[in-house]
Amino acid sequence: MTETLIQKLQRVDPDYYVRERVVKIEAQLQRIRKLKRERNAVLLAHNYQRPEIFEVADFAGDSLGLSLQAAEVHDAKVIVFCGVHFMAETAKIVNPQKTVLLPNLAAGCSLADTATAPAVEDRIRELKQVYPDLGVVTYVNTTAEVKALSDACCTSSNAVSVVRALPNQYVLFIPDQNLARHVATHVPEKTIIAWDGFCYVHQQISPDVILKMRQEIPGIKVLVHPECRDDVLKLADAALSTSGMIDYAKQSNASEFLAVTECGLSDMLQIAVPEKHFYRACKICRFMKAITLENVEESLRKMQFEITLDEDVRLRAGRAIQHMFDLTSSKRDDLAIPADVADE
Ligand code: 13P
Ligand code: SF4
Repeated sequence: MTETLIQKLQRVDPDYYVRERVVKIEAQLQRIRKLKRERNAVLLAHNYQRPEIFEVADFAGDSLGLSLQAAEVHDAKVIVFCGVHFMAETAKIVNPQKTVLLPNLAAGCSLADTATAPAVEDRIRELKQVYPDLGVVTYVNTTAEVKALSDACCTSSNAVSVVRALPNQYVLFIPDQNLARHVATHVPEKTIIAWDGFCYVHQQISPDVILKMRQEIPGIKVLVHPECRDDVLKLADAALSTSGMIDYAKQSNASEFLAVTECGLSDMLQIAVPEKHFYRACKICRFMKAITLENVEESLRKMQFEITLDEDVRLRAGRAIQHMFDLTSSKRDDLAIPADVADE
């Protein structure tokens, strides 16, 4: 067992996952598995988490996959959410009967922090005087209070479909300006008014590294997260959510890829698709990396840190999430990928 784990983790980073460290990790994993059984808990992990977290995860995915999965937790009493705060809140919104734990409260999101509920309320009021028909779409990377102010939520994998399906001609898109621009390009028949937030991780990635890789490795497939800047997105073979990138890499005939997003996804790709090679044009998200195995063990031992929500906020935010599922029949824009891949 230790040998298999060493091999697996060393594929990601041989310098970090030395034998001594992996032996310690394995002992921690065993303790966490036991605690999960005792607490009747499931563990959901976002694709950007540390590789060792995936070893105890019952499900790993992107924001859309995780919210669908959280709603489907029936037998377990506890959901341990290894991701960031807004994702754990979303789990609580869709499955309020469960105890939802976030193992480290430092796991916030600077993008979500750019849109506070009072500021969003003011902006909606202001815009509705000019566009009475205004629709409000919130990217899932927002607090529950901000979701509660919106008509529909979306994730990176269905933003285009959600905005297209809304009946409104004018749409305020909160909080990511890069994703808003991506949506506006694909839904030219509507006027998208963007909030001016951005993700500090994706905003740091610039085109030069992509141009250099394209020159060095002809035929490399460039997969870019839509939170990236426009000059980066323009260089993509495909703009995809994190799970969309994994599906693309699995289905593509290509063997070399450049994953342009948070670095955890490159780790995840190396584990999920070991027969292919993934180059990196990535930056680390300090919020996503806040959660460690130590935190997960402590979280299950002490039942911390529990996510609680005001019931009125939860209900209104839940309506916006449900509206997203209704508008898209829970499907992803990413489902269009096989056609793109088949074009190769
Ligand atoms: P995904 O939903 O594509 O996994 O993205 C979540 C996120 O926070 C990206 O920064
Ligand atoms: Fe938030 Fe950006 Fe980190 Fe995603 S990568 S959790 S958007 S700060």
